[in-house]
Amino acid sequence: MAPAKTLNHLAQEKSLESSFVRDESERPKVSYNDFSNDIPIISLAGIDDVDGLRTEICNKIVEACENWGIFQVVDHGVDSKLISEMSRFAKMFFDLSPEEKLQFDMSGGKRGGFNVSSHLQGEAVKDWREIMIYFSYPINQRDYSRWPNKPEGWKDVTEQYSETLMSLACKLLEVLSEAMGLEKEALTKACVDMDQKVVVNYYPKCPQPDLTLGLKRHTDPGTITLLLQDQVGGLQATRDDGKTWITVKPVEGAFVVNIGDHGHYLSNGRFKNADHQAVVNSNYSRLSIATFQNPAPYATVYPLKIREGEKSVMEEPITFAEMYRRKMSKDIEIGRMKKMGK
Ligand code: SIN
Ligand code: FE2
Repeated sequence: MAPAKTLNHLAQEKSLESSFVRDESERPKVSYNDFSNDIPIISLAGIDDVDGLRTEICNKIVEACENWGIFQVVDHGVDSKLISEMSRFAKMFFDLSPEEKLQFDMSGGKRGGFNVSSHLQGEAVKDWREIMIYFSYPINQRDYSRWPNKPEGWKDVTEQYSETLMSLACKLLEVLSEAMGLEKEALTKACVDMDQKVVVNYYPKCPQPDLTLGLKRHTDPGTITLLLQDQVGGLQATRDDGKTWITVKPVEGAFVVNIGDHGHYLSNGRFKNADHQAVVNSNYSRLSIATFQNPAPYATVYPLKIREGEKSVMEEPITFAEMYRRKMSKDIEIGRMKKMGK
């Protein structure tokens, strides 16, 4: 069957199109609105106050990265108007007709735009989501022709949003660098020329949400991710056992922060790269905006510090592009084995 060009039509059907039906083992175990309070929620109010709350806040962040690799931040200083504008424009975009969205179709290797997405190339089963991707950093590589300005004004808001989130991410990376006993800029320097990708996810109401996923289980490849989600719910992470899923409780105006593979390797495994997925439902559509902070493709991936008595979690230094290539080929192989019923 030809790939679905948008989900507009499929979301109206009574049953789920077969290309979205997941293997039983992958289907959701916990509902989109069965919220857990376990993931730490950390207020950043006072984080710049070196003689005050900074140490306490930093300790909480570091503990959350060690125990979970995922946490939420509030009082982060990002203007709530910017957040609501970004979400409002995004929602309006996905409500457009298929023809209008497809003006930004990114198939054929275009640098950014609209897609109905499978998370990985070569995936046998599709994710129930539509996405809009902005390659926002490095700035000199931006292709504004791939940034929709429909609804009018979205382009400027996205520009401001990506810049503001770059600063917030760098602030968090400073905390983690210091926790490793390194200079504040250590993690950003290790990214060489920091890359940023803003991915807006739209998960329409789904006729049979128990059979599918909005986004399959994965870890993010990059250094750190900041996710804004609406109040519907659907983001899930695993507990320590790697098997029990919990649904992250949506908190108005908060960012969910998670460590990716690059952050995990650079900390020599001290900071967890959180396993997560997104489930969908038949009552509400859901919007989330993930801002991925990644190293440059040619940046070296290797622990920045190996503590006494520890071994490196990596055999050899490799580039981020190579790390990503290996991750993808492993996932494609797992997908292929599943397809063959192995
Ligand atoms: C992501 O992992 O990139 C998005 C997860 C979500 O939509 O909650
Ligand atoms: Fe993710």
